[in-house]
Formats: sequence, C-alpha cells, structure tokens
Amino acid sequence: MEKGKITLTMIKPTAVKEHHVGDILAHIEHAGFKIIGLKMTQMPKEKAMVFYEVHKDKFFFDELVNFMKSGPVVVAILEKENAVKDFRELIGSTDPAEAEEGTIRKLFAKDKTHNAIHGSDSDENAVKEAWFFFSEMDQFRY
Ligand code: CDP
Ligand code: MG
Repeated sequence: MEKGKITLTMIKPTAVKEHHVGDILAHIEHAGFKIIGLKMTQMPKEKAMVFYEVHKDKFFFDELVNFMKSGPVVVAILEKENAVKDFRELIGSTDPAEAEEGTIRKLFAKDKTHNAIHGSDSDENAVKEAWFFFSEMDQFRY
C-alpha cells in the first residue's frame, strides 16, 4: 500500500440496502481504480464515532453516526495514480443535489447524509483509514 496512490472508500448503508454494491464497484473499476482490499462490515457506534471524529462538533454528527451504524457497509482500498483527487471527482459533491451528472453520488445517493459513498480527503487520511479497516494480511499487491 503506497501513500499517494491509494484511497479508502465505503459504500454506505442505504446504498448497500438498495442493492447498489455491484453497480458502484463496477463504476469504480471502470474508472481505473484497482481494488486492493475489500470487505463488508457493520460498524458499532463507537467505531463510527472514531471514523468520523473530525466532525464530532458538527451539527450533523449524531445523525451521521446513527446512519453509519444502521447497517452493513462495503469498504475498499483503491489504488490508482492521484487516487484521492480522482476518486473525489468520481463520487461528486457531498450533497447529491449538487453533484455532477454521471458521478456516483448523483447516480446512487438520496440526500446529503445518505450520500451513498465515502472517499478519503487526503493521502494521510487514506492511509489512516485503510489501516482502520484492514490488517496487513487483507491489503493486497497484485
Ligand atoms: O463525505 P465528504 O468528505 O464529501 O463530506 P464531509 O464534509 O467529510 O462529511 C462527512 C459526511 O457527513 C458526509 O459524507 C455526509 O454523509 C455527512 N454530512 C451530513 O450528513 N450533513 C452535512 N451537512 C455534511 C455532511
Ligand atoms: Mg470527508
């Protein structure tokens, strides 16, 4: 796993419940990202709170944590040159109403909280988030 070449994504509970996992992973692979770690998991409240710790003082924090623990998520480490920036472009704006046509959030998100997918916001956070979910054995090179 190389810093600068990876990002961490999570398909959020609503998108999983609505059976969009396959379509979203297809979008990701077709955009040139290589999946080097992949799993389904459900975060207990404490884990969701730690994952979104930077937002702990925001008005939307409780709703966000309750949503993220509400069902299984599909988490993946993705590899590509400029992974963080290119992936943020692929998913679109946080609020799907403002997301560009063809972006994952435009296609699959319901609203700003239930916005289908997460993407890391920096190379540092991508590495941190990858280790948050995946042990060394579950991070692949191929
Ligand atoms: O996910 P992204 O990096 O685009 O946005 P963020 O500002 O890091 O916010 C994290 C998550 O909090 C978003 O993806 C939304 O699910 C949620 N959020 C929300 O529910 N209401 C807001 N006003 C802003 C964010
Ligand atoms: Mg963010």
